Amino acid sequence: MSVIPIRQIGDPVLRRPARPVSRDELESEECQRFIDDLVETMRDANGAGLAANQVGDERRICAIEIADNPRYPYKPPHPLTILVNPTMDWISEETYWNNEGCLSVPDLRGDLHRSIEVVVTAWDRTGRPTEHRLRGLTAGTAQHELDHLDGKLYIDRVEDTTTLATWREFDLHQRERFVTHIRKVVEETT
Ligand code: NI
Repeated sequence: MSVIPIRQIGDPVLRRPARPVSRDELESEECQRFIDDLVETMRDANGAGLAANQVGDERRICAIEIADNPRYPYKPPHPLTILVNPTMDWISEETYWNNEGCLSVPDLRGDLHRSIEVVVTAWDRTGRPTEHRLRGLTAGTAQHELDHLDGKLYIDRVEDTTTLATWREFDLHQRERFVTHIRKVVEETT
């Protein structure tokens, strides 16, 4: 397995919608190895998720995993989930205020709204159809990753650009207020 360099904002591959993967392609050794590398890269960078186009691959595949994450210590754990050809089949109208960062947008975080509950339909890495009902921050992570696969970045959804901050300034000026708020969201949704 190997760690792949993560593409950064400005790279056009981050702005192109990903292409669907066929079952034959998914089953190939090359594609299975790519999924291993995607997971390894996500873990190496302490990401909560990673989409294939973030490592320059245009297949509609992303990974989500929330263990003890130093980037987002308030996120509830979620086991490693590989989503192949994912779609959001149901999206709650109820939203919550979140603050996000992204491995492809270095040293920046900002406020945005995410739906509080979604249903993601996808294949797993073996091509088996799966359905994931996700709530709260995990739903937010899935929305962030599916946005990547549609060529969108979280900054496109930041309504109030005065909330944008470097990670250092976030810690100094915004973390306390945000963590108090987000703990409540986590309590209500887990
Ligand atoms: Ni991202």
